[in-house]
Amino acid sequence: MENLDQIVARAQAEFLAAADAAQLEQAKARYLGKSGCISELFKALGKLSAEDKKSAGAPINQAKQTVEAALEARREALKAAQLEAQLAAEALDVTLPGRGNPQGGLHPVTRTLERIEALFRSIGFDVADGPEIETDWHNFTALNTPEKHPARSMHDTFYIENAPEVLLRTHTSPVQIRYMQAHVERHRGAAVMPPIRIIAPGRVYRVDSDATHSPMFHQVEGLWVGEGVSFADLKGVVADFLRSFFETDELSVRFRPSFFPFTEPSAEIDVGFISGALKGRWLEIAGCGMVHPNVLRHGGVDPERYTGFAFGFGPDRLAMLRYGVNDLRLFFEGDLRFLSQFR
Ligand code: PHE
Repeated sequence: MENLDQIVARAQAEFLAAADAAQLEQAKARYLGKSGCISELFKALGKLSAEDKKSAGAPINQAKQTVEAALEARREALKAAQLEAQLAAEALDVTLPGRGNPQGGLHPVTRTLERIEALFRSIGFDVADGPEIETDWHNFTALNTPEKHPARSMHDTFYIENAPEVLLRTHTSPVQIRYMQAHVERHRGAAVMPPIRIIAPGRVYRVDSDATHSPMFHQVEGLWVGEGVSFADLKGVVADFLRSFFETDELSVRFRPSFFPFTEPSAEIDVGFISGALKGRWLEIAGCGMVHPNVLRHGGVDPERYTGFAFGFGPDRLAMLRYGVNDLRLFFEGDLRFLSQFR
């Protein structure tokens, strides 16, 4: 039979071998549990006389205490190891630089659009918008550009497969039609139609991509329709706007004859800088003209009574000029090294 020392040695070895608390409890049961081998030894004492019990019991008690001490030591060791592992797993490297709390900012084109809106609102214009997925009719036909008209090829249009009646709008001019129709409807029956005075900023799309063209870009349409609205009003509004936008009177505005199917006469607007970094340069920044009678008619407006002008600015170009950016694509690449400079 195994002697007490052997039992103690075996218990100590098994406790040490227990890899976690559960294994340790199982090992404990084998020695100190109800039918553990040390408990069995105590039970066997019951048959002995009181005298013998004392002498036989003392070493068993001794062994039991040693085993209990070994158990306790192993419990502590496992607990410490577990804590150690947890700390290692949750370790923080306090020497890493902090993530910080950076401030966001508005995109330079958004800032430019907000600035344009504020300037036009200050002279009584409303801000309107329209869908970017537009009908062929609003984008072209209603703007005096019927099917097969050669001017349609001026725009490299994104069409939509299996939906020939819609396209990605190539300009914001379809908002002219939508706004006129809604305005006329709102004032149906009134003796005079209040003047239409809106700008319509938004995204437009063309199959085009280089340093000064992006397949998605922005336009700001302008439309003023009322009794007696003339080309002189157009020149005044545009020149005034540009001087406010660039915050300088050192600026020339040139109207260069051009062609658009939806305006007659038509012009292109160039800005010439008299001072500053762009001194001596002329830059094309908008198309404009007097709204063609056919366009007024499609909008439901009587061309015998009302006249109007329209313009279409390229706010991306305005932003490039204002911020001194030389590649349009930078605006749309989402590179924070570029964008964060405008915070
Ligand atoms: N829609 C024209 C373009 O995209 C610009 C324009 C707008 C011209 C309004 C005249 C009047 O090029």
